[in-house]
Amino acid sequence: MPDRIEDICPRPDEPRAMPTEPLCSPIYQAAVYRCADPEQADRLLGGAQEGYVYSRDRNPNSDLLAEKVRNLHGAERAVVCASGMAACAAIAAAELAAGDHVVVGDQMYGRTLVLFEKELARWGVTTTRVDACDLAAVSRAIGAKTKLVVVETITNPLVRVVDIAALAAAAHGGGAKLVVDNTFASPALCRPLELGADYVFESLTKIMNGHSDVLLGVVCGRAAGWERVASVVATYGFSAAPFDSWLAARGIGTLALRAERASANALAAAKFLAARPECARVYYPGLPEHPDRALAAKQLGGRFGSMLSFTLAGGRAAAERFIGAAERIPFCPSLGDLSTTLSHPESTSHRGLTPAERAALGIEGGTIRLSVGIESAEAIVEALEQGLKAV
Ligand SMILES: Cc1ncc(COP(=O)(O)O)c(C=O)c1O
Repeated sequence: MPDRIEDICPRPDEPRAMPTEPLCSPIYQAAVYRCADPEQADRLLGGAQEGYVYSRDRNPNSDLLAEKVRNLHGAERAVVCASGMAACAAIAAAELAAGDHVVVGDQMYGRTLVLFEKELARWGVTTTRVDACDLAAVSRAIGAKTKLVVVETITNPLVRVVDIAALAAAAHGGGAKLVVDNTFASPALCRPLELGADYVFESLTKIMNGHSDVLLGVVCGRAAGWERVASVVATYGFSAAPFDSWLAARGIGTLALRAERASANALAAAKFLAARPECARVYYPGLPEHPDRALAAKQLGGRFGSMLSFTLAGGRAAAERFIGAAERIPFCPSLGDLSTTLSHPESTSHRGLTPAERAALGIEGGTIRLSVGIESAEAIVEALEQGLKAV
């Protein structure tokens, strides 16, 4: 007899009681959960009973991942979102209303700037861009209507390090909240909430998952006012999928090891590049000449992260020759993979800026950004040398 309800919908007749538990968490690849009766549905949806009804509101794999990240940050609350941008948008939607003002760092990820300056402008929010390393400029930009100050722990692509504790004091002094995009650092290097930030968000797509196989983000924050964040995530549909969350929970298990190794490799690569005549400038907070070296040493726990940039003396033509010849290093406009990858900011992440805007940020045709992986340092140096030989 075909087409019975129980044949069409594959599901267990009853939840199976098992004498043993799986060592790793199962994937709850379910959009919806079956409720026993209306009273139970009411209790679950109203929050009177813990449990799951609809995956956009909550699902076990995203909750498990959020719990892992919450612990890593020592946060009171955490929620996983469908991407880093969804996490950033969730904070904005939870905190802002028409008439509000936001101060954003001028070296923020490009889409973050688009979100605040173009998208939120349509909803009546105004934005001022400032150099987040210039505390006096940040304080001057904060006004009576400023609700958020938004910065990145380590900026892209010139890896400047911002002073989170000082920025938190400046934001709070002006009645605003500090939001930190901690994607480049991850909680393995920096825990911005402990330094006074009100929200931290990360693109889990990068080093936190570490395997370039999911798009995800996370918001961590304080218990006070958190209901709005949770509600915004479910209402705008910023929620994450169970399978992606499961993958990222697995990736995060090795975050500390990967961050340690990638930081050591990046320092070795930066030192190698700094000694090469083909490189006009090398940007890495672990190098003595970096303007934020002392702050980075304090704020990043003695490591300096996996991101570095360098500018080839031969300009754009040299960059193209390098990228073609360093063929063991994939050219990927992302970061945080297991393996070393490179990007060319002028033609990828910063292509939307005018040449003058790029020049003001120090981004040139010869600038290359490296996301250093967990191979051996020797292998990375060898691959870089192969590229430099062609320059
Ligand atoms: C620093 C930074 N923040 C946020 C994002 C956005 O993350 P996602 O791509 O997961 O939306 C990115 C993406 O490249 C990024 O580099």
